Amino acid sequence: MRVGVLTGGGDCPGLNAVIRAVVRKGETRYGDNLIGFADGWKGVVEDKAVPLDVERCRGILPRGGTILGTSRTNPYKIDGGPERARETLAAHGIDALVAIGGEDTLGVAERLGREGVNVVGVPKTIDNDLSATEVTFGFHTAVQIATDAIDRLHTTAESHDRVIVCEVMGRHAGWIATYAGIAGGAAEVIIPEESFDIEVICRKLQERHAKGRYASIVVVAEGARPKQGTMSVASGEVDQFGHERLGGIGSQLADEIERRTGFESRVTILGHIQRGGTPTAFDRVLATRFGIAAIDAVHDGDFGRMVALQAGDIVRVPMSEAVAQLKTVDPALFHDVAEIFF
Ligand code: F6P
Repeated sequence: MRVGVLTGGGDCPGLNAVIRAVVRKGETRYGDNLIGFADGWKGVVEDKAVPLDVERCRGILPRGGTILGTSRTNPYKIDGGPERARETLAAHGIDALVAIGGEDTLGVAERLGREGVNVVGVPKTIDNDLSATEVTFGFHTAVQIATDAIDRLHTTAESHDRVIVCEVMGRHAGWIATYAGIAGGAAEVIIPEESFDIEVICRKLQERHAKGRYASIVVVAEGARPKQGTMSVASGEVDQFGHERLGGIGSQLADEIERRTGFESRVTILGHIQRGGTPTAFDRVLATRFGIAAIDAVHDGDFGRMVALQAGDIVRVPMSEAVAQLKTVDPALFHDVAEIFF
């Protein structure tokens, strides 16, 4: 078969491990010809095909990012985009496409699938907010990067007896904040799933600092929002999928904490550091398993599905199920820990 591969949306460590696995099993076990498309759906709409073979994938397992490039292009927001995409696939004699991405990339894959394109999805995002899979690759690496940063912030906060606010990614889900906050021993963790009350945050910090020299790390998800009317929040531009550009709540929070408590406060916004560098071993293994399962699904003709991790096994679920709703943090998980530590 002639199998297309694309990586779309925010990049993350592990993407190259998926590509490497799809290509290795496709070429050596199924005799496939693999064709990469550059920069996500943009490369399909604009016919930017690149050759992909085992040789081309040598050495990419530990490399962050994606050798194919990525973008946030939505064909359904471009005049004639879906038609041009289908023409590109036909021109290259593509029998099936493996789309590696998050809710946006897989949302396009699901819609094209309903319009006759043979697509298999692979779930990717540091946000871990895709339904139907226990975890997405990229998430564990982002959590480890954030946790390492929080460990470092503890020592400088203690030296200066400061409050340091650490803003992490995750869009509208608080998974990175929750996991890195727990792992990093944060004093407070603020997630988008529950609007926060700045007065409560400050009171708890005052109680903590009243016990003596306590530096505090406050981990805040970029999508966290204050209770109505308690703080003003800036809004950013919107991308082709309608997502507002987030970032900056951490700075406002640090300013408010210092203003209200008098505690010297600073902010660290981790931003794209969480998306860079080499994947952890966990993510390399999960990404490899996803890639192998995806090319198997192609050869089973199991299109319109996404590979997923459930109870330790790699299964296939309808892409419609995966993209139907955001997977947000389980309140029980958060509160079990929050009531003791945050
Ligand atoms: O979806 C992954 C993610 O890193 C989000 O956590 C973040 O809000 C967004 O991508 C940033 O997008 P961009 O890299 O396009 O600025």
